[in-house]
Amino acid sequence: MGENLSKEINLNIKEFKIDLLKNGGDPGVLIPLLQSAQDSYGYVPEKVINYISEFAEIPAAEIYGVVTFYSQFRLKPLGKYIVKVCEGTACHVNGAKSIVNMLLNELGIGVGETSDDGMFSLLSVACLGCCSLAPVIMINEETFGSLTPDKVRKVLKKYRQK
Ligand code: FES
Repeated sequence: MGENLSKEINLNIKEFKIDLLKNGGDPGVLIPLLQSAQDSYGYVPEKVINYISEFAEIPAAEIYGVVTFYSQFRLKPLGKYIVKVCEGTACHVNGAKSIVNMLLNELGIGVGETSDDGMFSLLSVACLGCCSLAPVIMINEETFGSLTPDKVRKVLKKYRQK
């Protein structure tokens, strides 16, 4: 399994060990490695953490510490529908806060989280590139603009029925 896994996460064990030694065992060298795992899987799976722990002789708890410290890392796969809510300036002044609150209420998850049924993940972004439609959300590749909390509820209903 180890060899396959290292291929999947594009990992050069020798290079990594040298880096680790050079940096006096600093767990910061784990970051590119964890990023690579996340690029491959969409999140950092437990099997990758255990694998790194074994070959790098770093306790798994320490690796979990790095993963949970940096908000860019996820320990769970993203949901089927990825809801990106824009909190950039244009959206902010046009009521993004009420949109975020409606999403939090309707989805029952926080920003950066995925619902237990694996349907929705909620992410916050700085601009979706269509400020004239503020406030804006995107669900997977679809954009919804000029939103009100009520419109958000209707959009989510549509996705729940898909
Ligand atoms: S600020 Fe929201 S789309 Fe640009």
